Amino acid sequence: MTVQDGVRLASLFGAACFVLGLHMMNSPATARRGNQLSAFGMLVAVIAVLVQVSHGGTMNATRWLVLACGALIGGAVGLYSARSVAMTSMPQLVSLFNAVGGGAAALIAVADYHHDTHLSGGVATASVLDVLIGCITFSGSLVAAAKLQGYFSQPVTFPGAKAVSAILALASVAAGIDVIAGAHNIWILVIVVLAATGIGILMVLPIGGADMPVVISLLNAFTGTAVAMAGFVLENATLTIAGALVGASGGILTKLMADAMNRSVLSIIAGGFGTGASGIEVSGAGGGSVRSIAVDDAALQLVYASKVIVVPGYGLAAAQAQHAVRELAELLEARGIEVSYAIHPVAGRMPGHMNVLLAEANVPYDQLREMDDINPEFDRTDVALVIGANDVTNPAARRPGNAVSGMPILDVDRARSIIVIKRSMASGYAGIDNELYTDPKTSMLFADAKKGLAELVAAAKVV
Ligand code: TAP
Repeated sequence: MTVQDGVRLASLFGAACFVLGLHMMNSPATARRGNQLSAFGMLVAVIAVLVQVSHGGTMNATRWLVLACGALIGGAVGLYSARSVAMTSMPQLVSLFNAVGGGAAALIAVADYHHDTHLSGGVATASVLDVLIGCITFSGSLVAAAKLQGYFSQPVTFPGAKAVSAILALASVAAGIDVIAGAHNIWILVIVVLAATGIGILMVLPIGGADMPVVISLLNAFTGTAVAMAGFVLENATLTIAGALVGASGGILTKLMADAMNRSVLSIIAGGFGTGASGIEVSGAGGGSVRSIAVDDAALQLVYASKVIVVPGYGLAAAQAQHAVRELAELLEARGIEVSYAIHPVAGRMPGHMNVLLAEANVPYDQLREMDDINPEFDRTDVALVIGANDVTNPAARRPGNAVSGMPILDVDRARSIIVIKRSMASGYAGIDNELYTDPKTSMLFADAKKGLAELVAAAKVV
């Protein structure tokens, strides 16, 4: 067997690990092992590439040094950021990783174009798509990360933005066609780079808070696609397969999330969604009166209920209250009360956030119920206990003209009574008031989620 054969076999093995690993991520029970298997596949693929380049006759001491430094610095930064990031800041980190992936893929195509003066039509097409998608992902993801970090969360729009985007799109397509037709001038590719970078910025700036999850997922799919194109440019099958898997799974996730939010992906990209663009204000929350409740009274309501649905949201994650909520649920169950958890697809700040959080606290999977499955049960529920969830419970979503319009919500307001644990009347991510809080059936328990739940547990024990 030649070295080349060995490299091909190792690449195939790596690709098989990616596919199997991805499949194992279908279930929370096997997801961790799936992740490890995929990582192992990537390690094998990287070693295969190193063997390949070391036999290619193109490496010298300086190049090895540059490669080693890049791998060490990148690996160290990646490891440190992934280990130290708070769960609630995960979307920003994912967004930064998307930016790095898209930018790196684009750089590969630029370098290849710069060095190779006779690109075939196929490679030139892959190069242009790589630069285009990679640069849109790079700049769009940086803007998304800044928004998620809270530097500016409101949609940014200005007159003529759509016209500027259209001009940039035309410029990038014209320059791209020139490259594919055989032109070899680095400045033509620079036009694609600049135009695509501008498109990425203008694409993400106008997107409203409630739609950010879909955008992150879309940019993730873009990263994968750009990497797949880089695989074609370098004629590296492993890169193409890994990129295609990320592109396809990211695309499916984007579609699922857009459906869950009742949006179309195209309308989100076109901008202006999730912004409450029609300017109609949400009424009710400002006008109606708010009823607050003491811990003892809330505990009484809970222990005399026969069915309780817990609605977790971002605040539960921010407070790290997952163990406290499990403790309360176990206490109620021990008294014969039926307890389940209502999981909205975009509750929290990343896909699957609530599932991961509650699984970490050993909440049984079968108690986690998806929105469509549990919504019909709210009108048979004695107490809906909303913990740090806001937008995903806002009845204003059922009306047009506001930032959450059309987004399916958990039908919490249909429960017989509602207890909301949060610290204040502050709005959620979408930045609008929640009419649920002024519903006559709602009682507000103003507290940090962890502290409030601990007090509820203590109070419920002595009832
Ligand atoms: P949000 O609407 O963001 O509301 C969270 C609420 O938690 C806030 O109103 C806040 O009120 C409360 N809170 C914060 N810290 C708390 C603490 N320590 N203890 C108790 N409460 C606390 O959350 P949600 O209902 O989960 O909805 C998610 C939102 O984020 C949606 O708009 C969604 O589109 C967006 N988003 C989701 C994702 C994904 S993929 N899930 C990604 C990005 C954005 P107080 O300050 O008054 O306590």
